[in-house]
Amino acid sequence: MSTYMILVHFHSALAVLTGLGFAARGVWRLGMGRAINNRALRIAPHVVDTLLLASGIVLMVQASLWPHLVAWFGLKLVLVVVYIVLGILAFRSRPGARAWVFFALALLAWIWILGVALGKSSLGWLA
Ligand code: HEM
Repeated sequence: MSTYMILVHFHSALAVLTGLGFAARGVWRLGMGRAINNRALRIAPHVVDTLLLASGIVLMVQASLWPHLVAWFGLKLVLVVVYIVLGILAFRSRPGARAWVFFALALLAWIWILGVALGKSSLGWLA
């Protein structure tokens, strides 16, 4: 397997982990009103997201896949920013209806990103 494909698999595994971890933290914080006290569990999402971003940038450069030239890829990067911002809003808002809406929209953005990345189409799962 080429190093590029190994990196794609590494990136894909992190892509799944980021969303599952985010969903679990949302249920823990918003659903059960609990704080995360474990140091490793607090740091893990940052490690996952940093590696996801770094591997994505390396793949982008290796594949010469540029967001201003390839529409679905440009949309994917916009959605990544949307996912991050909604995630921050969900966890910085007071627990309640607003926080749940941000949380649900962030999860939708993540699912859309997966569809766009796998289908290489802006419509993602709908294409
Ligand atoms: C929440 C964030 C992200 C998710 C969920 C995600 C998801 C994925 C998935 C599932 C794949 C594999 C597609 C396949 O098997 O063909 C992939 C590939 C890729 N991703 Fe990401 N990604 C994310 C962030 C990023 C970022 C920030 C970048 C670049 C700055 C990036 C660049 C790429 C590139 C270049 C590929 C390889 C495309 C190819 O060769 O087919 N990704 N991504």
